[in-house]
Amino acid sequence: MAPHDPPTGRVQLVGAGPGPADLLTVRALRAVQGAQALLYDALIAAEVLDLAPPGCIRIQTGKRAGRASMKQQTINRLMLRLARRGLKVVRLKGGDPSVFGRVGEERAFLNAHGVETEIVPGVTAASAAAAQFGFPLTHRDAARRLLIATATVSSGDLTEGGWAGAAADPETTLALYMGRDQVDAAADRLIRHGRAPATPAIAIENAGYPHAKAYPTTLARLASTLAAAAPTGPVILLIGKVCAQATLPAADAAPHAAPTMAVAR
Ligand SMILES: C[S@@+](CC[C@H](N)C(=O)[O-])C[C@H]1O[C@@H](n2cnc3c(N)ncnc32)[C@H](O)[C@@H]1O
Repeated sequence: MAPHDPPTGRVQLVGAGPGPADLLTVRALRAVQGAQALLYDALIAAEVLDLAPPGCIRIQTGKRAGRASMKQQTINRLMLRLARRGLKVVRLKGGDPSVFGRVGEERAFLNAHGVETEIVPGVTAASAAAAQFGFPLTHRDAARRLLIATATVSSGDLTEGGWAGAAADPETTLALYMGRDQVDAAADRLIRHGRAPATPAIAIENAGYPHAKAYPTTLARLASTLAAAAPTGPVILLIGKVCAQATLPAADAAPHAAPTMAVAR
């Protein structure tokens, strides 16, 4: 760098996991603890934000379904401006930043402007949900594939393609993100493409938190189960044989393993 060039900081694109601070990776924890500027999504828990040092600039960028968010271009420019001030910038996203986290766009933008980036992985919602309710996402001879998919496009409409093939295959566990508001149409498409209506399914709200809720059901009944539950928190939909293995952890298990399971078959 020439003597009069502005300092270019560094941006860490960090996965915060599904919510609770104890589901952060150690690397993510160190990044937050060392942040001088923190740009965070709406689903990031207060206990995680509290790990940032005093004096750290904190900026909420929104990104919660149905609520106003900062435009992606504004977020990009903000990160760039802060990095050019020589600050250690942490862009904190729920779950894993590479799963529906727009990390590719943000990294490309920053790198194109000469700012170094590092991606720090996080626990994605599907992993947290399955672990908390005691079932695997893959299972020998029963679930050979895990398909991570979004049910909706940015307008909120159902995604057009992708409902045939692997999604409809009985040996696929389908993890549907952003599916709460289109669950009826999504289930209908899957059934029309050959997925059995009796396929076990489970909707998990607030995965990772002690107050998480699981709604076990079938593919055919997923929409009515969810309508009856009327969840207000983020929901991941899991569809496939493995969901039949979901169990309620013992009431006297570890503090983070005491969620409620609303049985609505
Ligand atoms: C924009 S995507 C981000 C996914 C995130 N990057 C991840 O890896 O989990 C947001 C969607 O993730 C799911 N999600 C995120 N956090 C969740 C949680 N704690 N419990 C259940 N679902 C969650 C919901 O489907 C939500 O609509």
